[in-house]
Amino acid sequence: MEMVANRSHLRKLVLWLIMIVELLLFLSACYAEIAARKILKDGNSNPLEVGLQTSDNYEVVIDNGLVEVTIENPSGYLTGIKYKGLDNVLESRNQNSNKGYWDIVWDNGAYDKIATNHVKIITLTDDLVELSFTKIWNFSTDHGKSVPLNIDKRFIVRRGVPGLYMYGIFERQEDFPDAHMYQIRTVFKLNEDKFRFMAISDTRQRAMPRGEDRDNTRSQTLAFKEAVLLTNPSNPQFRGEVDDKYQYSIENKDNKLHGWISDDEAVGFWVITPSNEFRTGGPHKQDLTSHVGPTALSMFVSTHYTGTDIDTAYGKGEAWKKVLGPVFIYLNSASSDDDFRKILWNDAKRQLSEEIESWPYNFTRSEDFPHAEQRGEVSGQLLVRDRYIDKELVQAQSAFVGLAAPGYAGSWQTEGKGYQFWTQADKTGRFDVKNVRPGEYNLYAWVYGFIGDYKLDLNITIQPGNKINLGTLVYDPPRNGPTLWEIGIPDRTAAEFFIPDPYPTLANSLCIDEADKFRQYGLWERYSDIYHRGDLVYTLGVSNYSQDWFFAHVLRNVGNSTYRPTTWQIKYNLEDVNETGNYTLQVALAASSNAELQVRFNNPEAVLPYFTTTRIGYDNSVARHGIHGLYRLYGIDVPGNILQKGDNTIFLTQTRSQGLFNAVMYDYIRLEGPTV
Ligand SMILES: *[C@@H]1O[C@H](CO)[C@@H](O)[C@H](O)[C@H]1NC(C)=O
Ligand SMILES: *[C@@H]1O[C@H](CO)[C@@H](O)[C@H](O)[C@H]1NC(C)=O
Ligand SMILES: *[C@@H]1O[C@H](CO)[C@@H](O)[C@H](O)[C@H]1NC(C)=O
Ligand SMILES: *[C@@H]1O[C@H](CO)[C@@H](O)[C@H](O)[C@H]1NC(C)=O
Ligand SMILES: *[C@@H]1O[C@H](CO)[C@@H](O)[C@H](O)[C@H]1NC(C)=O
Ligand SMILES: *[C@@H]1O[C@H](CO)[C@@H](O)[C@H](O)[C@H]1NC(C)=O
Ligand SMILES: *[C@@H]1O[C@H](CO)[C@@H](O)[C@H](O)[C@H]1NC(C)=O
Repeated sequence: MEMVANRSHLRKLVLWLIMIVELLLFLSACYAEIAARKILKDGNSNPLEVGLQTSDNYEVVIDNGLVEVTIENPSGYLTGIKYKGLDNVLESRNQNSNKGYWDIVWDNGAYDKIATNHVKIITLTDDLVELSFTKIWNFSTDHGKSVPLNIDKRFIVRRGVPGLYMYGIFERQEDFPDAHMYQIRTVFKLNEDKFRFMAISDTRQRAMPRGEDRDNTRSQTLAFKEAVLLTNPSNPQFRGEVDDKYQYSIENKDNKLHGWISDDEAVGFWVITPSNEFRTGGPHKQDLTSHVGPTALSMFVSTHYTGTDIDTAYGKGEAWKKVLGPVFIYLNSASSDDDFRKILWNDAKRQLSEEIESWPYNFTRSEDFPHAEQRGEVSGQLLVRDRYIDKELVQAQSAFVGLAAPGYAGSWQTEGKGYQFWTQADKTGRFDVKNVRPGEYNLYAWVYGFIGDYKLDLNITIQPGNKINLGTLVYDPPRNGPTLWEIGIPDRTAAEFFIPDPYPTLANSLCIDEADKFRQYGLWERYSDIYHRGDLVYTLGVSNYSQDWFFAHVLRNVGNSTYRPTTWQIKYNLEDVNETGNYTLQVALAASSNAELQVRFNNPEAVLPYFTTTRIGYDNSVARHGIHGLYRLYGIDVPGNILQKGDNTIFLTQTRSQGLFNAVMYDYIRLEGPTV
């Protein structure tokens, strides 16, 4: 026995020695590669030039006289950003792997910080340094240990620019095993003593609680772990407030600038995202921004507000390559006068415009990121034909128009692998989608005020330099007959409905704006208070949807942590019914989570519903304080013989009650008469 044990110890020792030797060889190779190019500089003597140094073998430092960026070698972890009076903008007390990093959540919660094992200089001039940290995935050594992806993490520092550009090139080869990669992001953990003020929009900015204020000694966890009630925060100003990172979400199309300010130095740290092309799920997908930590994120792939309906599962045999980014980490400073926060925010906005102006960047060197002349453009004009609204064609004013991977109308909102290019049409419906990467796409659109999704029945192939004018396109939104009545506005959100005030004991002062009210915690519970006598009844001609239609069809709290399904009623009067005519009930949903919506006409006791959506949705928009998740439209055929002259009632039941958050949100409901 002892002999065997000794031998196995010996073997372990030898293996360790081999590993150490390999590591040393590897590190010296990295060093040699940098040295061999004769580019080692002694720091950065001319502040206008960008300099590169390797102070030792374990890190690389890029310095342009404005910022000094330190990256661990060869892992590619961002470990330091020195700026103005701050030795490190990132939290130096954290481990190197926990300061500035990419990470991927894949399969069932497997987590990978995608450390790389090789560094290469891509560009080294006085104007710019671009570094590439890579890792080639190897079945025999990496299978089951790390996400099956070839990784290339790029870092760029430019002369005269106080910041850092970052992008990632991720690639699956065809023979890589299945992987469900449902979250990819970069994370920045900022200096906790310094960055206390968060800004994510013109109206949503304020001093924030500290990370430790969320500890269980200082807070109380609410309905889920992300939401806490601050009971004993370090700054008493926040006592009694709720904090939940999902309250700071933003739609992709608006998620361009967010970050933090250090009051002591009057320094700002900003994540600037000049383009949405590399995000998933189209312009309306919501995602995280910055949150208590202080943490700033750049979200590339996630299931937030879509659930697993978003397509991020890759099968064996499926090759894939995608450039995520570049995003720009911008630093700015102001003199510490009274207005410095405003000055920093406005300067960051100005910088954002500058970054958007120069998109697509022309200084990146990866051939996987095409520059402007290698991209194409698609223009046209979208009109809407809805003869029950207007005999003429209507201009699709401000329509959202975009190119995404070929699919069905509306498929872009669950599309999670390719690039998407969106724009908003002008008042006349004219659109111009610029800077489209070469590839094959469909053109999609939706128009405010009209239900459904448009798709042009044509595969559009973009080649470098293409300028395609599609001319006039006509969208025929679903419609079978004249409007008898309608509830809400077809805008893919529940924002126009009644949004209650939060419980005063559960408010977050960052959502105080009327337009942000839906982001408050616990609104789902308000339904049971307001409708304590009975469920919602909406009477056409009497009720007003902005007061009388609760924004989410939620469960009723019957006490003792028990939640029951609710049935809402729509009461309306028909002067006449054509017994042989076909009516249509259009039900557009703005969100659904683990829900089943059943529809009954006039008979609430009918054992079988007239219509059911069946089990739908995982978007969790109620719990995540979204005002919408994924859009779904149901056109329900209603034969005249189930309606009656005079008073009618539609019964809407959300039947599932496994937890607290089974729910749907409505976007819009319309009853159409028979075709005339
Ligand atoms: C993968 O790793 C194995 C074991 O270390 C090695 O023999 C092989 O050469 C590697 N393959 C590639 C493509 O690097
Ligand atoms: C790169 O883009 C910038 C900003 O858009 C522009 O000023 C510059 O002339 C471009 N450089 C080249 C080489 O095209
Ligand atoms: C368009 O592209 C899709 C996906 O690549 C393909 O399945 C479909 O057949 C194409 N349609 C036409 C008309 O070429
Ligand atoms: C419905 O309620 C809103 C908000 O209270 C109000 O602005 C609007 O005028 C009302 N509409 C009607 C038709 O009364
Ligand atoms: C509350 O729920 C628990 C667990 O389901 C049950 O054991 C208990 O009897 C319930 N209490 C009341 C008052 O209904
Ligand atoms: C009822 O609908 C049928 C079928 O659409 C139509 O032929 C008939 O004219 C309608 N009757 C009336 C009174 O409108
Ligand atoms: C009404 O719908 C039924 C069932 O779909 C269909 O058979 C019938 O032809 C329709 N009637 C009219 C007038 O369109």
